[in-house]
Amino acid sequence: MNEMTNSHILINQFDYLEPASLQEAITLLAQYGNRARVLAGGTDLLVHMKMERIAPQAVISINRIPGLDRIAVQDGHLHIGARATIHAIENDPRVQAYYPALTDACASFSTTQVQTMGTVGGNLGNGSPASDSAPALITLGAEAEITGLDGKRRLPLEEFFVGPGKTVLQDGELLTDVILPQPQIGTGSAFLKISRVAADIAKASGAVTIVHDGGRVVDCRMAFGSVAPTPMRTCKAEQMLIGQEFSEDLVARVAQAVSAEIAPIDDVRSSAWYRREAARVLAYDGLHRAWQRATACYSERPSFAEASKESLSQKEMLRPFGPQHDSIGRVGANEKRLIELRVNGQRHRAWVSPNDLLLNVLREQLQLTGTKYGCGIGECSACTVQMNGEPVLACLVLAVSAVGKDILTVEGLQKPNGELDPLQEAFIEHAAFQCGYCTPGMLLTAKSLLAEKLHPTEDDVRHHLRGNLCRCTGYASIVRAVMSCAQEPIRE
Ligand SMILES: Cc1cc2nc3c(=O)[nH]c(=O)nc-3n(C[C@H](O)[C@H](O)[C@H](O)COP(=O)(O)OP(=O)(O)OC[C@H]3O[C@@H](n4cnc5c(N)ncnc54)[C@H](O)[C@@H]3O)c2cc1C
Ligand code: FES
Ligand code: FES
Repeated sequence: MNEMTNSHILINQFDYLEPASLQEAITLLAQYGNRARVLAGGTDLLVHMKMERIAPQAVISINRIPGLDRIAVQDGHLHIGARATIHAIENDPRVQAYYPALTDACASFSTTQVQTMGTVGGNLGNGSPASDSAPALITLGAEAEITGLDGKRRLPLEEFFVGPGKTVLQDGELLTDVILPQPQIGTGSAFLKISRVAADIAKASGAVTIVHDGGRVVDCRMAFGSVAPTPMRTCKAEQMLIGQEFSEDLVARVAQAVSAEIAPIDDVRSSAWYRREAARVLAYDGLHRAWQRATACYSERPSFAEASKESLSQKEMLRPFGPQHDSIGRVGANEKRLIELRVNGQRHRAWVSPNDLLLNVLREQLQLTGTKYGCGIGECSACTVQMNGEPVLACLVLAVSAVGKDILTVEGLQKPNGELDPLQEAFIEHAAFQCGYCTPGMLLTAKSLLAEKLHPTEDDVRHHLRGNLCRCTGYASIVRAVMSCAQEPIRE
């Protein structure tokens, strides 16, 4: 981080624009050209802006454009809208049944909050070689649909990336859809990742999609992340497999070939030498896992159409940002706007500029100081609040973008008569805090798990809370407290 950077605030001033339609968004993007940045979940964009790596003159939010988050089957293909969140994709039954590499990639993604906020369009639009969704989507044969003033164009996703932080997107263009073909019978896929800690981007990642006919490999695609300037397909290694009998010896030789074909560098996360070793192991394990999935019996797998019906209700349940209304249009960089926020069931008014963060408005204007500031860049989750029922990081949410959404902070857990929420009572009973700084974020994240899963296991609790850091290391008692509020499964 820049020595002078203060991640508590967003120093960059910018026009904030909230187009209500795709056409309006494209027109604005064309008008502003490279002076504008698209805002989806903000988990990359706001971090880069806070770190003063970029300073756009305009931020164009795509969060009010209807339909951009839909996941739908059309013409025998699965269309994933650019604004579909990583969480929604991970939980989509069609993705789980047909594209397990993509489910693996979404599941490996950082923290619960980043999964809830982050979108596939942002993950690809960021152009990072470490993108988790990219290797999986490339091996699954995804195409990127790009919309601009001249209409739509499509290209294979592997051609979307041109260098670190660079994509083929031109000024005035938006990535609108990721389109996946229905896999042929006998296909299996897998994604694996190695990172420094659970909630981090990859030191190296790899995806494999393989098609079998008996013991023979009919087709295979392999792609890797964090091992080259862009997410990279290893075509030479793939050719070694196609048409061959799948065997231990062949897999070992292909994995070695992957290690030779990639082009890694030394950086803060890893050395080039380690990345070559890691890619070899990822290729070896990935090939075995994908092969095992390809050859498993999928008689119980729902059809595209059946899974589609199921996913509609699930999607409504998981919808991150409720009805799309209350668009505030445009707020100029130097303008202050009186906005209305719904916090803890009450309406609050606040004067905000485009660069005011929800965290600071809650704490400083609404005096709701329960929500804490820790890192300011998405890494500690101390600032977690719920937005329309989903846990989000208030340090990475622009206050102007929160208009019309239901926000819950720790103060809202207590009933009006002063009675504490059962989870708060459990935290007291199990001594699940020491200094208490992480507690509000823990409570709101744990509440979202209990709302989503009636009978979570201890592993579920640990996984869901993995991004909530506690410097007093009170995790065991926190997990006990959450488990004490989980409903017992009903025994037959
Ligand atoms: C703590 C932390 C952990 C993370 N861990 C991971 C991880 O494990 N794996 C991983 O892959 N990433 C990780 N990330 C990065 C980030 O969360 C993901 O890349 C995420 O998917 C970005 O989505 P977003 O909607 O938040 O993007 P935004 O921040 O809104 O946008 C990202 C970039 O893409 C552009 N953009 C957004 N949408 C579009 C679009 N539709 N068309 C064109 N351009 C667009 C934006 O202008 C911006 O340049 C992490 C980030 C943080 C802060
Ligand atoms: S303060 Fe928001 S994640 Fe650390
Ligand atoms: S109780 Fe102190 S940081 Fe968690």
